[in-house]
Amino acid sequence: MNEKVTVITGASSGIGEALAKQLGAKGHRLVLGARRENELKRVAGGIGSNAIPVTTDVTRRKDVEHLKDVALERFGHVDVWVNNAGRGITKSVMELTDQEFDEIVAVVLKSVFYGMQTIVPHFQERGQGHLINVSSFLGRVPLIPYRSIYSAMKSAVNVLTANLRVDLKAKYPRIHVSTVMPGVVDTDFQKVAGSPFPVRAGSTLGPQRVQSANEVAVQIVSLIDHPVAELYTNPAAPELAQQYFRDVALFEESMLRRRSSGN
Ligand SMILES: NC(=O)c1ccc[n+]([C@@H]2O[C@H](COP(=O)([O-])OP(=O)(O)OC[C@H]3O[C@@H](n4cnc5c(N)ncnc54)[C@H](OP(=O)(O)O)[C@@H]3O)[C@@H](O)[C@H]2O)c1
Repeated sequence: MNEKVTVITGASSGIGEALAKQLGAKGHRLVLGARRENELKRVAGGIGSNAIPVTTDVTRRKDVEHLKDVALERFGHVDVWVNNAGRGITKSVMELTDQEFDEIVAVVLKSVFYGMQTIVPHFQERGQGHLINVSSFLGRVPLIPYRSIYSAMKSAVNVLTANLRVDLKAKYPRIHVSTVMPGVVDTDFQKVAGSPFPVRAGSTLGPQRVQSANEVAVQIVSLIDHPVAELYTNPAAPELAQQYFRDVALFEESMLRRRSSGN
């Protein structure tokens, strides 16, 4: 059994829940954070006494620090910290209000910043650890204009994660820093974001097959066993990213063609 101590934010549903269940089955000791206490208790209760639910709002630095404190009190150290909590919004750049903009900055970007600043000093003390930031393919390629600020903040997550990785690499070679970029995943994400397009695992959306939360979690479990800098969970993603960076104008034209043909 693998007895790593792993903290996961956004563990009350979707990818975080699936990851918690899979790691729990492998023997990880878990500290799970999210705002909905009942949902979090349901997830932790299904895993067993080695999963501790901690009501957490990741937009508050104090809550994130409390999550770490509980992990240290309960298990003595942290091996893996997964900044997974987040939510989207379905608004174009020109439709966004100031309040919506600030909310997404807080929940997508600031939450990850808080998580990094909270756990990295502990990893530095131990000389080891694995930080995993769940970003999005939309942080690499701005594929969906109505995800606007969400996509922009995930891009910022990618950059901060890469900056931290380089900062730590020379002095702390046993601290791993990874970015996970899922494509479209069948979770509550679309509903919470107010998306008019429900997605189903196994169906196709544009060039991507919609993944299930379990499929994505399997890949994150494997990432914990074999750390790499960046993980695209959707098989179509690497080629799409290359197409984008090869010729942005051509890529955007093909997006517009797909949009007008309804695919
Ligand atoms: N589904 C996709 O298509 C997709 C694609 C790419 C990337 N992602 C990313 O994957 C991650 C997980 O999303 P998901 O697809 O699993 O969606 P989900 O089922 O809606 O899960 C989102 C999780 O984040 C938590 N959360 C939201 N706001 C929070 C806050 N202020 N404080 C603490 N927890 C908060 C939610 O818990 P509470 O509501 O209980 O707080 C929930 O556990 C997100 O970072 C998302 O951006 C998703």
